[in-house]
Amino acid sequence: METLVLKIDSSRFDPEVLLPAAVALAEGKLVAFPTETVYGLGANALDPIAVGRIFKAKGRPSDNPLIVHISRIEDINQLIVSMPEKARILADAFWPGPLTMVLNKSNLVPDVITAGLSTVAVRVPDNEIALSLIGQAGVPVAAPSANLSGKPSPTDAAHVIQDLSGRIDFIIDGGNCKVGLESTVIDMTADPPVVLRPGGITAEMLEKKIGKVIADNVLEKDGDNIPKSPGMKYRHYSPKAEMTIVSGDPKKMVDAINNLLGRYKAGNLKTGVLASEETRALYDASVVLCPGSMKRPENIAAEIYSCLRKFDDEGVEIIFTEAFPEHGIGHAIMNRLKKAAGGRIIRV
Ligand code: TXA
Ligand code: MG
Repeated sequence: METLVLKIDSSRFDPEVLLPAAVALAEGKLVAFPTETVYGLGANALDPIAVGRIFKAKGRPSDNPLIVHISRIEDINQLIVSMPEKARILADAFWPGPLTMVLNKSNLVPDVITAGLSTVAVRVPDNEIALSLIGQAGVPVAAPSANLSGKPSPTDAAHVIQDLSGRIDFIIDGGNCKVGLESTVIDMTADPPVVLRPGGITAEMLEKKIGKVIADNVLEKDGDNIPKSPGMKYRHYSPKAEMTIVSGDPKKMVDAINNLLGRYKAGNLKTGVLASEETRALYDASVVLCPGSMKRPENIAAEIYSCLRKFDDEGVEIIFTEAFPEHGIGHAIMNRLKKAAGGRIIRV
């Protein structure tokens, strides 16, 4: 299949250039598009055959449900049974934005989207290209992150091209995604609501609007506990190399990572370190990548997936990463790093 790449000049964005992609989307084709979080791989959510193509193109397990994207809040009404008061408050406060709400689904939503669940996940992305594309397509758009299943989510069109060129119909290149981590997912069918995946909208921000929410750290639970968000059970966001997180105060962290690097040097392995601006110069590894300063966690969030992909591109075989502070968006950063590391953490 030939994949058409449509480059958008966002300094003078003309919605009309999206028309061919919007028509293709409405007709059942696959279109990757930028959002404020990560790139999405979109299909017409009302067309089960089109949605089925998403799973095939990504190599995604069919028991992992998809988020439905809409361009106006009121478009949610056709997708759900009813809008609870707290959901209404969150929609008004955070949409468009990096928040996905899980609600009881209407009969209009095909089972292939929800993997047979009685709930559907919905969000309004905060990106003018995404909103314009969805609006022009005139249908709700089902979209997972536009990466091959198991790879880090794409935060730049080049990542999408690397993974999906030849497998989908359109890629809309709208530059970098500003948040860089997937949306917060919150289950509004529970009371208090449960955060299934931390993201740019933090538990503190949610609680300011609707009172208590439960931050369900699915990954940290052990044994055969069944994750409420099916996607949480997969090892995700992973670079090819084996990754280990080293956590502790900065001086100890640097010493511990350098010690570990020393051990691997003899084995001739290509080593990588993910380090903050403050400590990057202190490591002796084959590749040191820096997503930003500890003082600016939003920058770290925006760059982290790109760094994980870069390690792969450079053929790094073993990665050590510093732990980043776990407040605000730091929760989401560490949630993704823990998954990429398959839970391997050394505390010093
Ligand atoms: O920021 C985002 O959310 C991006 C952009 C493209 O919008 N999308 C994204 O989609 O991250 P995906 O498919 O990679 O992740 C969707 C997550 C998965 O963890 C999935 O299990 C969960 O949402 N999910 C979807 N429907 C659900 C439902 N009905 N109940 C519980 N969890 C659900
Ligand atoms: Mg994903």
